[in-house]
Amino acid sequence: MLPTIEWKGDSVVMIDQRKLPAAEIYVRCRTATEVARAIKTMVIRGAPAIGVAAAMGIALGMRRSKATGTKQFVTEFQKTCDLMAGTRPTAVNLFWAIDRMKRVFAEAAQAGASVEELKNRLEAEAHGIHDEDVASCRAMGAHGATLVPDTARILTHCNAGALATAGYGTALGVIRAAAEGGKKVAVLADETRPFLQGARLTAWELVKDGIDTTVITDNMAGALMRLGHVDLVVVGADRIAANGDTANKVGTYSVAVLAREHGIPFYVAAPISTVDLQTPDGSGIPIEERNDREVTHVGTSRLTPEGARIRNPAFDVTPAKYITAIITERGIARPPFAESLARLFA
Ligand code: MRU
Repeated sequence: MLPTIEWKGDSVVMIDQRKLPAAEIYVRCRTATEVARAIKTMVIRGAPAIGVAAAMGIALGMRRSKATGTKQFVTEFQKTCDLMAGTRPTAVNLFWAIDRMKRVFAEAAQAGASVEELKNRLEAEAHGIHDEDVASCRAMGAHGATLVPDTARILTHCNAGALATAGYGTALGVIRAAAEGGKKVAVLADETRPFLQGARLTAWELVKDGIDTTVITDNMAGALMRLGHVDLVVVGADRIAANGDTANKVGTYSVAVLAREHGIPFYVAAPISTVDLQTPDGSGIPIEERNDREVTHVGTSRLTPEGARIRNPAFDVTPAKYITAIITERGIARPPFAESLARLFA
């Protein structure tokens, strides 16, 4: 399995996703600040992977703390959590993971744990979040594979694979599980402008696994659907509101509308940690605006003229009405999602 992120000795090591597929380079983070920078600059990306990175970043930061008294340690812990929370706003897994770290910290502190015991407890929780994520992806894969016909041409957007999780992937987990179950799957990977997660990362992962993969530019999806070349769509998610409205990589909404027009099932695969019952619908999901340079340049080459204004919203919201089903590790939710998602939580 791909080593997306690992705790190694006294550091957290991640494969540098900005450099793939040209180079397989690993970044070693020795402090919480370095982990936060890695999340912000997309060394690591993808909602569940960001959550794991934040948890490990907090555990790492506190492991290296020089605080001797609990009071100072508590202050540093709060600061480190705030640092992680300020990295990226859309993927709710980040905040979910920070909340988990805060909960175990509070419980252990209340029980009178020493600074050393608190450090151990945080590290154990970060490992737990990592391992649970892999297990969730496997379970999601098993549920999702039941929705894939024996022969299927599957379109996906962005990268919701092993690189976007602790391993195996959400949308790509469904595809992997179908392939492992003997189904004949062929994948159409949207290139996913501007960061090219589909062209660079999804294609890299799938080709490594020997899965039939074709990269298309984002504006080709409609034409191929119209020609009858797509049997189903499966994508990941960064935040799913209580009513099923789903934030994912910008461009997902257009794919969902096209799928509806062509009568193609549109599935979202995401762990329960991506479901945000506190947000009633998609209008409350914060959408990250990223740097202009991601749009104006490819590498060092400028594409756009100086003076043109740029927009770069990194995510969009697909209204629940376009989603056929949401695949989670606890089972498959179908409309109306307000009820089916609440049932999965209960
Ligand atoms: O900006 P990114 O690359 O972090 O965006 C990632 C996505 O939109 C993924 O589709 C989503 O996080 C699901 S990952 C399993």
